[in-house]
Amino acid sequence: MAGLFIAFEGGEGVGKSTQEAILGAYLEQQGHTVVRTREPGGTPAAEVIRNLVLSHDYIGLNPRSEALLFAAARGDHVERIIRPALDRGNIVICDRYIDSSVAYQGYARELGVDRVRNLSLWATNHLIPDLTIVLTIDPEISLARVTNHDRLESEPLEYHRSVTQAFLDLAAQEPSRYLVLDASQDRDHIAQVIQQRVNQELAARS
Ligand SMILES: Nc1ncnc2c1ncn2[C@@H]1O[C@H](COP(=O)(O)OP(=O)(O)OP(=O)(O)O)[C@@H](O)[C@H]1O
Ligand SMILES: [Mg+2]
Repeated sequence: MAGLFIAFEGGEGVGKSTQEAILGAYLEQQGHTVVRTREPGGTPAAEVIRNLVLSHDYIGLNPRSEALLFAAARGDHVERIIRPALDRGNIVICDRYIDSSVAYQGYARELGVDRVRNLSLWATNHLIPDLTIVLTIDPEISLARVTNHDRLESEPLEYHRSVTQAFLDLAAQEPSRYLVLDASQDRDHIAQVIQQRVNQELAARS
């Protein structure tokens, strides 16, 4: 049986890691084998790339090089961690995936949505999530939640607004593969809505 691939997407501080952890614990409690991972990173080589792209030492990094680095990290992550877990029938929950590259590099850095998506599709041999959960909130609220700002989080508010809109546009293009949630709601309520949707996905597969 093929596994289930779930991605969490959204801007900084919307609660992706919070909800990813709650969902992972819930599914494990239900007896599923869950692989929790995050991007950029997830393998030793991809973690090295993560440190590079998120570091303040490389402000001014050529946007095309940045897009290539994200795709390079993702290719290794999928090949070595995500696809093998799905082949074993596990549930994989990934904190950020291709849509983050499309939103941050494609829309907000204006490299072109299709070009950035195609780069990651090539790098991952076309692995797309079964379900993508997008958490959205006004960036002014979510950025205030995050205290330790890395290189991307230090971008102006306009950039973050454009990123938020990008996630909504992506979700609108393929509504059946997305769950879009208002991240200003209570975290337990958000968690319950997510669990319901994931249970539907699991029931449809059994
Ligand atoms: N529904 C919520 N309501 C209020 N605060 C929340 C909610 N969900 C998470 N938080 C808090 O907001 C902060 C950011 O949450 P979290 O780290 O899960 O976001 P994130 O999307 O993973 O952020 P990042 O992009 O920095 O990884 C944390 O302090 C968390 O406790
Ligand atoms: Mg996080």
